[in-house]
Amino acid sequence: MRSEDFDMFRDLLMRRSGLVLSPDKVYLLESRLMPVARKHNLRGLDELAAKVKPMSDEPLLVDITEAMTTNESSFFRDQRPFELFKDVVLPKLTAERSAQRSLRIWSAACSSGQEVYTLAMILAEEKAKYPGWNFSILGTDLSNEILAKAQEGVYTQFEVQRGLPIAQLVKYFDQNGEKWRVKDELRSIVKFKPFNLLTSPASLGQFDVIFCRNVLIYFDPPTKTKVLDALSGLLPSDGLLFLGGAETVLGITEKFKPMEGQRGTYRLANASDANPATTMRGAAA
Ligand SMILES: C[S@@+](CC[C@H](N)C(=O)[O-])C[C@H]1O[C@@H](n2cnc3c(N)ncnc32)[C@H](O)[C@@H]1O
Repeated sequence: MRSEDFDMFRDLLMRRSGLVLSPDKVYLLESRLMPVARKHNLRGLDELAAKVKPMSDEPLLVDITEAMTTNESSFFRDQRPFELFKDVVLPKLTAERSAQRSLRIWSAACSSGQEVYTLAMILAEEKAKYPGWNFSILGTDLSNEILAKAQEGVYTQFEVQRGLPIAQLVKYFDQNGEKWRVKDELRSIVKFKPFNLLTSPASLGQFDVIFCRNVLIYFDPPTKTKVLDALSGLLPSDGLLFLGGAETVLGITEKFKPMEGQRGTYRLANASDANPATTMRGAAA
């Protein structure tokens, strides 16, 4: 690939998705964009680059951006954040909200939906403890293609084998040939919609808990700051943020601080320490 074409794709991706593409990723660009070139009846990456230059073919630009996203996900990914959510966050936040009886959760880069359905399974398991409660989960992602898969909620044997306990597979999925389809019980509290984290999230409303896991790793520090600062505006003072294992707020934003003893979990920096939802040390350690 010509270096000016690499620079053009790199700038395009940074602008549209926040993805940082270093020069050693030429192979990734080539392998992900060849299928896009073929889909648009172009002979190779030179022709693709020439077609992109006027920046006027929106469907082509969308296909390029989506092709470069990494959609790796699994049920109960890393396990610990979901144990913490079930054993500590849920009891604390519901105790705080006994008047409203409502809890909104956002999975802010939900990929093919495993994170959303994991949370839905936890809520389904726990719901007997919370009669009359209204739980809802919004899953968003930049990629329409991956969101369609999330919405469909159909997974291969390989996908369900990664992290999903057999008891929950049988309870919350219907088998159809070699695939597994999420049952309506989980779908009823779940919604999906496209959303780009580079844009303002204000129109999505407030959330009690935000999962923004394994997406900030693709962004540069100023973009991480912008995204985290925007997320902080959607949380109430006792709201919580979950990041991925390789992500942190430290050195990136002053709006959040880590919850002591609960790796990967963050609260608003200006939240009062007296708030029970923010003093969880030891509860699930
Ligand atoms: C590695 S997956 C993480 C999925 C899930 N959160 C997890 O931890 O398993 C990253 C997702 O971020 C999405 N993504 C990348 N850039 C984005 C952006 N600017 N706005 C919203 N989603 C984005 C990708 O499409 C991809 O599905």
